Amino acid sequence: MAESTCSEELCKGMATLTVHAGQSPEVWNTGAAVVPPITLSTTYRLQEPSGASDSYVYNRIGNPTRSCFEAALAAVEKAKYGFVFSSGMATIFTITQLLESGDHIVSFDSIYGGTVLLLKTVAAKLKTEITFIPVTDDPEIFKQAIKPNTKMVLIESPNNPLLNIVDIRRIADTVHQFKDVFVIIDSTFASPACQRPLELGVDLVMHSVSKYINGHTDVIMGGVVTNRDDLYEKIKFLQKVTGAIPSPFDCYVANRGLKTLPLRMAKHQHNAMAISKYLEFNSKIEEVLYLGLPSHPQHELAKKQMFAFGGMIALKIKGGKTEAVNFMNNLKLIISAASLGSIESLIEHP
Ligand SMILES: Cc1ncc(COP(=O)(O)O)c(C=O)c1O
Repeated sequence: MAESTCSEELCKGMATLTVHAGQSPEVWNTGAAVVPPITLSTTYRLQEPSGASDSYVYNRIGNPTRSCFEAALAAVEKAKYGFVFSSGMATIFTITQLLESGDHIVSFDSIYGGTVLLLKTVAAKLKTEITFIPVTDDPEIFKQAIKPNTKMVLIESPNNPLLNIVDIRRIADTVHQFKDVFVIIDSTFASPACQRPLELGVDLVMHSVSKYINGHTDVIMGGVVTNRDDLYEKIKFLQKVTGAIPSPFDCYVANRGLKTLPLRMAKHQHNAMAISKYLEFNSKIEEVLYLGLPSHPQHELAKKQMFAFGGMIALKIKGGKTEAVNFMNNLKLIISAASLGSIESLIEHP
């Protein structure tokens, strides 16, 4: 027997059996399983060679576990369509691909730093023009910033990290006075448990699913929802051809996380309110910024457009960086770490 070949006893038919025995797609169909299964198969047996009549063909294009989570995400945002991507940043990057070279983006100068970096580097390299304006809902400032080549207005509310909010409906109404300009909001800091921006008139709502939606600090993922058929078609195409998709396993985990979002958010809000009230009049604290506190400058706007205030707090400690770092170092349970929106409490000095 040559070393490179199997003995007949060892290999006769065995390779075929390991691949096919008990593995027929019809056999492992999970029937009416109550919890959605994780479908890992990257490919699907086709009814006909073109795959035209098949629901699933290849996992980059579509996967049942991903479809399940995308439908759940769309439902909680009261959207027609939902898409998930391999991270929040991959989601924003994909959305920038809706633009053509030479198109113009308007965004805020104080939003998540990673988004600013993406817009200033990768999006700018694709010859997209970008104007950063202050965090505002003033129609005049938007009217001045929007140019004939503007295609996208990207806002964040509440913003990272200072929890400023903007009147979302006011911005959507202003921007929609201009033809062919769409508004996308990064609603990560609110989650669908606190606001539904599609109902306030924006075209797209995106989330870093890695935060509140998954909620357990063990998945990196992003998502975007829309009611617009034209944007659905374009994003579906981009998801298919660029392929920045999450794994079926991560979709399963995030889908499970989403189920407890309202319960977690109620508790986040309860705790954030208690901590904010405790710190608000502490002699070592300069300012507590929590949307649920009547002292927050935008508390009334928050009550108008949000149905919960969330769990994020921004603090200004009297003194300076040294005092802030001391405060962080002396916390017993709250961990100094990047990210937010999960079951443990984290603190950052951004
Ligand atoms: C508001 C906001 N948007 C987007 C992102 C990016 O999301 P991801 O880390 O899932 O790529 C983050 C991450 O911290 C964020 O805070």
